[in-house]
Amino acid sequence: MRRIHLIELHEQPWFPRFLRDQITDTLQNAMNFFGAYAPVAPLLQTSLDATRNSSIIDMCSGGGGPWLKLSPRLHGNGPAACLQILLTDKYPNLGAFRSASAASQSHIAFHATAVDATNVPPELRGFRTMFTSFHHFQPAEARAILQNAVDANQGIGIFEITRRAPSAIAWMFLWALLPLLFTPWIRPFRWSRLFCTYFLPVIPLVLLFDGIVSCLRTYRPQELREIIAQLTATEYHWEMGERISPSSRAPIAYLIGYPRPKPLTS
Ligand SMILES: C[S@@+](CC[C@H](N)C(=O)[O-])C[C@H]1O[C@@H](n2cnc3c(N)ncnc32)[C@H](O)[C@@H]1O
Repeated sequence: MRRIHLIELHEQPWFPRFLRDQITDTLQNAMNFFGAYAPVAPLLQTSLDATRNSSIIDMCSGGGGPWLKLSPRLHGNGPAACLQILLTDKYPNLGAFRSASAASQSHIAFHATAVDATNVPPELRGFRTMFTSFHHFQPAEARAILQNAVDANQGIGIFEITRRAPSAIAWMFLWALLPLLFTPWIRPFRWSRLFCTYFLPVIPLVLLFDGIVSCLRTYRPQELREIIAQLTATEYHWEMGERISPSSRAPIAYLIGYPRPKPLTS
C-alpha cells in the first residue's frame, strides 16, 4: 500500500477551533483510557537515562496526548528524579493543557503560544516526543522535524499507533464509534460536545475521516530510514521498531534518536 498524503480535517487552519479542541480532547481521553502508549514507557526511560534528561518537550500535544497515564511510569535524571513534561502545539488546546497540568500535580506544564514542530524555539530544551502525529507531515517536513532536533542536539522519540494496513483502516470504523460511549464523561463538560457527537455527529465523522487518512499517511520503517539517511547527524544513535499495546493489541511503531553518549574520560 503506497503512502497517500490526503488532508486531515482537524489540522486545517480553517477548521473551527472549538471543534479541533474537541477532537483532540476525544483523542486524549481515548489514549489515556486504554493506556494505549504504556508499552513505550521502558523505551522512553532508556532514552531519558541515555541522554541524562529530566525534561520532555512534547510536540503536537493536541489535548495532552498520553501523558497522564505515561508520566507516572517515568522518572527524570536530576537530583529529585522528577520528570517535567512541557506540552506544545501549533494550535494549543489551552483548556485541555490546563486540565492536564492540574491533574498532574505540576509534572505537566504547557507552552501557551504556538510551537511549530519543524522549528522548536531553542530555549525549549529536553527530550522531544511526538505521539500520533508524525504522519501529519510530508517527507520534507518530517525531515525538518528530525533535523531541528539534531541541530539543537536534543533527543527525539516518535510514536505512532496508526498503521498503513487494511486491518488498521478497518479498526478506524470501531474507533470512530468510541466517542458515543464516553463523551458524557469527557471534562470539561460541554453541551456542544454532546450536540456534535449525538445530534449532529461531526466529531465521530471527523475522527473516522482523519483516522483513515492518518493510516494512509503513516510512514513505514523503510521510508523512515530514507528520511534519516538524508539528515546531517553523524553522532546520533537511531533505533526503530514496534511494541504491542496489551490493551488494544495494536502495534505501536517508534523511531528514537539521540546524540551518542560521549565516553567518560578519566
Ligand atoms: C492527531 S493530533 C495528536 C494529538 C496528541 N499528540 C495525542 O496523542 O493525543 C495532531 C496535533 O498536531 C498539531 N499540529 C499540526 N501541525 C503541527 C505543527 N506543524 N507543529 C506543531 N503541531 C502541529 C495539531 O494541532 C494537533 O493538535
